[in-house]
Amino acid sequence: MSTDDPKAPESVGTTEGQIAVHWREEESFQPSAAFVAQANLTDPAVNERFAEKNFPQCFIEYADMLDWTQRWTTVLDTEDPPFWKWFTGGQLNASYNCVDRHLAQHKNKAALIVVPEPEDEEPITLTYQELYVRVNEFAALLRDFAGLKKGERVTIHMPMVAELPVAMLACARLGVVHSVVFGGFSGEACGMRAADSGSRVLIYMDGYHRGGKMIDHKASAEIAVATAEMEGQSIDKILVWRRYPGKYCSATPMVKGRDFFVDEVIGNYRGVRVEPEAMESEDPLFLMYTSGTTGKPKGCQHRTGGYLAYVTGTSKYIQDIHPEDVYWCMADIGWITGHSYIVYGPLSLAATSVIYEGVPTYPDAGRVWRIAERLDVNIFHTSPTAIRMLRKAGPLEPQKYHYHFKHMTTVGEAIEPEVWKWYYHVVGKDEAVIVDTYWQTENGGFLCSTKPAMDPMKPGSAGPGVPGIYPCILDEQGNELPAGTAIAGNICIRNPWPGIIQTVWGDRDRFVRQYYSKYCKNPASKDWRDWPYFAADGAVLSADGYFRILGRVDDVINVAGHRLGTKELESACLTVEEVAEAAVVPVADDIKGRVPDIYVSLKPGYAPVREIEEKIIATIEAMIGKIARPRKVWIVADMPKTRSGKIMRRVLAAISNTLDTGDTSTLANPDIVEQIRQHVQGNQKLEAKDGPEDLKTFGKEE
Ligand code: PRX
Repeated sequence: MSTDDPKAPESVGTTEGQIAVHWREEESFQPSAAFVAQANLTDPAVNERFAEKNFPQCFIEYADMLDWTQRWTTVLDTEDPPFWKWFTGGQLNASYNCVDRHLAQHKNKAALIVVPEPEDEEPITLTYQELYVRVNEFAALLRDFAGLKKGERVTIHMPMVAELPVAMLACARLGVVHSVVFGGFSGEACGMRAADSGSRVLIYMDGYHRGGKMIDHKASAEIAVATAEMEGQSIDKILVWRRYPGKYCSATPMVKGRDFFVDEVIGNYRGVRVEPEAMESEDPLFLMYTSGTTGKPKGCQHRTGGYLAYVTGTSKYIQDIHPEDVYWCMADIGWITGHSYIVYGPLSLAATSVIYEGVPTYPDAGRVWRIAERLDVNIFHTSPTAIRMLRKAGPLEPQKYHYHFKHMTTVGEAIEPEVWKWYYHVVGKDEAVIVDTYWQTENGGFLCSTKPAMDPMKPGSAGPGVPGIYPCILDEQGNELPAGTAIAGNICIRNPWPGIIQTVWGDRDRFVRQYYSKYCKNPASKDWRDWPYFAADGAVLSADGYFRILGRVDDVINVAGHRLGTKELESACLTVEEVAEAAVVPVADDIKGRVPDIYVSLKPGYAPVREIEEKIIATIEAMIGKIARPRKVWIVADMPKTRSGKIMRRVLAAISNTLDTGDTSTLANPDIVEQIRQHVQGNQKLEAKDGPEDLKTFGKEE
């Protein structure tokens, strides 16, 4: 039994199987009249058009935003559940849709503006014409020099430079399936993925700027090759772009006959045009690897037609992209957000998409706002982690710059209401709407979000399902939990949608097991209603139909048989004025099983004093209850973070429990780990213990 009143934080009578939800309802914010006046989606008829009774035909609206060389015959084919097929019989090319079709009207318009990290290097603009030329020439090189053919896979391990989308679109032009590995991942991670996908060609960059340093990226290619070979996959060619053509900035020697500088070879393809392959709607467009429960990353296989239709439709309606907008998504193209909402969605709509090479706070906390001001960015898209980081580095910095966002996005994790409000008032200057978009690598595009001109915004809540997505909350037995009960369950999507992956590359069983087995009502059924999609996230649905995501189903701390969402504790910490970032991890406790340990870093100008620790404890007790009282609050200088900026709760949990911290060498700031360890465990290094499974696996990516 849980509380019926979400405003009553003291009543915490949930059973073992339920996550107690103590969030208070937040006050809503309305989109401004100025935003609404120019928005793409304002017609209330959209709700009717995308209502369940019009599924799946509603998605024709998205498919019609694309150019097809052959129109589809079937919108949704359910013959082989849950391997849904979209727009079958249709043919199209993603590169054509993102480039060629804009030439008639937008040839001289900026398609990409690439901002190098060194501030004295000018931004590089690629018009749609220039992008067309570059994509064609590189496609010719891939086809004629690397011998790549439709259906083959290629692994791309590159930083945030113009050549990355050029390479992706060149692959798409040929029907070659690209698998982009995040530039910050190790050579080993790249090699594992190259082997799994069966890539014999790697596309690399020699180096790039990050945090004021030149990173020798090509060095990781050797490790990638060795790893792939150990896994039984040989690499024939590495195509190496140079950050500065003609000047190699890696210390790693080029291997004759295997490694080639693109800027040297591409001269042979000057002016060559490559006819875009007519791809079947269901031909795969790309693979994107994501971590899975069993450790081995899953190759999420995205289709051409459905995926492109879905990211184009959601970019238009949820991102509110118009061709005249300057759109900046600060994610990395090496993640799904970058694929869908830096490259394919915005370019399909002929927008100008900004790419930034470096660290958002380099050389100082004003960098992001200077870029926005200089390029007149009006749509901004980033993650709560980046927002927290910017808030910590310079809470008043945005006011110093003359930029104006009409629209802002947050994605990737739940955003604490305190942070949301800073984003809204300070970054958005009370002018911009915010969409909190909930989705996953597997989903292709957004699942939950408000419609920016139509729905009120509620800090901390993603909102309802986006058009054509019908989410629900199921308990462990598969019963649907009604709205407004404040009982958390598993968020599921009742219907298929065009952006969902086709399968896990090479592992159909894993696809079915991971996403469908848990709630499938009848494995023999060909009716999609029997196959809810299990997202493995906890969520709660409030009376107004807004979903609040509580995190991965395992991201909970069980205190005295009472499961607390780590996110809500962190959110409580962030209401304390001095706190910039918070991370909560479980610690073994003889009596209660697990208790929370709290790590916080402070905003600039505050000293780590006992009063702050006490204030945090008092706040948690007040907002959530005594049950959530932490063992200890540790004030640290910085959090251990991945290169993509996620806080590594796994490392903090290991320190709190004197377990092995594992490999921390790939962190953005590996030195902080030892500092925190000494702070928590004392100077003398304690021998790592063996711990219970949930502590050892806590915070490990699902
Ligand atoms: O737990 C959810 C969280 O991020 C997970 C998906 O991660 P990934 O596949 O890396 O994709 C991230 C970008 C799409 C989800 O299972 N998540 C994502 N967006 C939100 C979120 N949690 C809360 N609110 C969000 N808006």
